Amino acid sequence: LADFGVSPRNGFLPDHQPCEYLSDPYYACWESIMADLPSLLNKGYLRSRVDELPVLSISHLKQPGEGEGRRAYMILSFLTHAYIWEAGGPSERLPPAISVPFLEISSYLSLPPTATYAALNLWNFKSSSLTQDFTRIDQLRSLHTFTGTEDEEWFYLISVAIEAHGAQIIPVMLNAIEAAQTDNSHIILAAFIKFGFCVREIGLLLKRMNERCSPDIFYNRIRPFLAGSKNMAAAGLPNGVFYDEGEGRGEWRMYSGGSNAQSSLIQFFDIVLGVEHKPTGGVKGPTNGFLSEMRNYMPGPHRAFLTHMSQISNLRAYADNSLIPEVLEAFNFAVIELEKFRDIHIQIVTRYIITPSTKAAPNSGGGLNLAIASSAKKDTKGLHGTGGTELLPFLRQSRDETRYTALD
Ligand code: ALA
Repeated sequence: LADFGVSPRNGFLPDHQPCEYLSDPYYACWESIMADLPSLLNKGYLRSRVDELPVLSISHLKQPGEGEGRRAYMILSFLTHAYIWEAGGPSERLPPAISVPFLEISSYLSLPPTATYAALNLWNFKSSSLTQDFTRIDQLRSLHTFTGTEDEEWFYLISVAIEAHGAQIIPVMLNAIEAAQTDNSHIILAAFIKFGFCVREIGLLLKRMNERCSPDIFYNRIRPFLAGSKNMAAAGLPNGVFYDEGEGRGEWRMYSGGSNAQSSLIQFFDIVLGVEHKPTGGVKGPTNGFLSEMRNYMPGPHRAFLTHMSQISNLRAYADNSLIPEVLEAFNFAVIELEKFRDIHIQIVTRYIITPSTKAAPNSGGGLNLAIASSAKKDTKGLHGTGGTELLPFLRQSRDETRYTALD
């Protein structure tokens, strides 16, 4: 696991809580903007503050591949989306003070220079738990938000707690894959059952979204900042965003917005059960399928882990060939729990996106919701997720493909 940057205790979350502050005073100007981010956005001063920033280098970061590098990546992710989506219409240009260090640190971490799940969720929390138990959601806080609302923190922290809770199942399933080679059916049967219960508990965590995140605040205030720069013509970014590197250099770039499809844990669930997802029609432009594209938005070592897992995944075939009916039943139990989890996700999306989209005033919200309002025409057809898929068709297909994985 260590080879792939996966923590035995916390899975795809870091082993220890993320770095909270860049130690070299050289970065104080970034940190001071971050400390004030919601209020700068609220007053409409964010862009002008960023325009005053010098172009910093990443060479003053301690451990650029770990704690401080991740924090720098997270800071620049927030600044990028804040700069692009500050109220009053999107910016098509990202200034060198963000572009230059962001391109450098992204390439170092093998991530795209945009606000990914890693930036907003995996590396954006602290815990007051004395035992550093990151499943304790009531003891978690986000380090940063765009809006300064508890709703936005809760939206990110639900994912953190899910990652922490799901972490336990990673070694269990790796052990089961090994047990399939020696035909140890007891271990495999127990692993399927543990998997099913673990996914069920994760579904209960997802349902807790309702406790502290209001659909209205999510849809109208938080979601616009999660939008990407790909397929955003209707929101005012027909060519994406120009990452200005200064001295006449730079490039137009387009990226998907934040999406939980970038969670390595959720893709891990599919791989170990052998769920096959076909490309969806929802993403415009050439793609081998949204879910495989989203792997490019995961930290490099986690992407490599999933590739490795796809190569060794053998549990569905094992269950299919097993002469022990309980093994097959336990496999199907695991599949059904994952299907139910996807049903809960669809309910959440209905409450947080579909319903608010039907009552949104045409001029409310940021670019993303404007783009939606112009294409949705009061029905859910054309309604896109921040990642870029057609929302309900994508989620339903994903759920149905999970169900088809069950064995007769
Ligand atoms: N993907 C989620 C959305 O579309 C965050 O809002």
